[in-house]
Amino acid sequence: MEDSKRKDAISQFYLKYGFATRCLHAGEKVGQPKSKAHTNAIYQTSTFIFDDAEEGADLFAQKREGFVYTRMGNPTVMVAEAKLNSLEGRDVKLADPEHVRVSSLLFSSGMGATSSLAMALLNPGDALLRGTVLYGSSDHFFNDVLPRHNVKNVLVDTTKLENVEHAIRLNPKARMIFFETPTNPMLDLSDIEEISKIVKSVNPDCLVAVDNTFATAYLQNPLSLGADIVMHSTTKYLSGHGTIVGGALTTKHDWVKDALYKTMKDFGPCPSPFDCWLLNLGMKTLPIRMEKHCQNAKEVAKFLEKHPKVEKVYFPGLPSHPHYELAKKQMRDFGGMISFDVKGGYAAAQAVMNHVHVISLAVSLGCVDSLFQHPASMTHASMSPESRKACGIGEGLIRLSVGIEEVEDIIADLDHALHAVDKAGHVSPSVMT
Ligand SMILES: Cc1ncc(COP(=O)(O)O)c(C=O)c1O
Repeated sequence: MEDSKRKDAISQFYLKYGFATRCLHAGEKVGQPKSKAHTNAIYQTSTFIFDDAEEGADLFAQKREGFVYTRMGNPTVMVAEAKLNSLEGRDVKLADPEHVRVSSLLFSSGMGATSSLAMALLNPGDALLRGTVLYGSSDHFFNDVLPRHNVKNVLVDTTKLENVEHAIRLNPKARMIFFETPTNPMLDLSDIEEISKIVKSVNPDCLVAVDNTFATAYLQNPLSLGADIVMHSTTKYLSGHGTIVGGALTTKHDWVKDALYKTMKDFGPCPSPFDCWLLNLGMKTLPIRMEKHCQNAKEVAKFLEKHPKVEKVYFPGLPSHPHYELAKKQMRDFGGMISFDVKGGYAAAQAVMNHVHVISLAVSLGCVDSLFQHPASMTHASMSPESRKACGIGEGLIRLSVGIEEVEDIIADLDHALHAVDKAGHVSPSVMT
């Protein structure tokens, strides 16, 4: 039996239900033995016992279905994979359900997913087209690791369709285009549908892969817009409570899933069953959390845009944002992430970061509570200063993950912290905390 069939966990049955219903119910019975327990068991085990030698041999030969060893599959992991399938699989056209279906694989981290994606699908001599603004470690991996394997790393500003067309024509050996939308940390958007059309019309062998971490499956489904692969850092909104580090890849091509599964087996970035149990629990409340994140972020962005200590706000839900129209077309709402430049550069940003009480100063994002951090010295410190400058990541830039607290409390906390900065960007002695 093919790997994809063995590991396939999708239930097309659930696709007919609404998003929130799928979040709660999809995947819940996959791989689970009959039991009267309301919630799923955690199979925190590395290995599985065979009934007899014949069963062991058959499972290894993939002649029977069953579990062997957790790196190769685990019932708790499968539940979360199946749920994610149903969330990202909405409206994906299954032209040939026998050979085309949506399937997901979970990883030990978002970077485990991104690096496995490249290792599984790119070969020496190939080119990768990738967005100019990416999460720092993704940027570092594509810039520094892939060229060592003779994969050409081509930077493309995917926010401009003419650049995508130019790059795809110029690089006939491109086998994948990878981009974030919205981007971390500048919150720029790329048009998934148009990029997919351009790429497929010029080079049908080039896969379109989208990092959907900031938007989540609640706000946009890249596979239904023409992409081939969706990547998530499940560390963020999907799990939602800051309890795990994890990653995911979802695809509508069995051959892609097979290649990813082989890479998982051989490279080994498998997730822990307990983390997947927490992820599954987190995904159950994704819609209700995202609704509140989006609602709060809109209020916070409006407040920041008017604040005298703030130079510029980057939030796709503001009409002043250059991709506001695209956000309205492509996303169901504008998300919970905001970046803003504090007047006065690094010293001013430092002052703000050191004067909050409700918001926590921490990297990561998409948690129920608000977090903020300084990309230039933290998440994007691995980029060269020139690259950061080219991407617009300035010294005064703060990235804020708006939580689901009372919005008045988030705003009051920011207002207090921003008043700690005087005009020159120094901490005002009159504000003591
Ligand atoms: C957009 C995006 N992609 C990928 C990653 C990497 O994920 P992880 O930290 O789970 O490895 C991150 C992490 O912050 C991210 O923000």
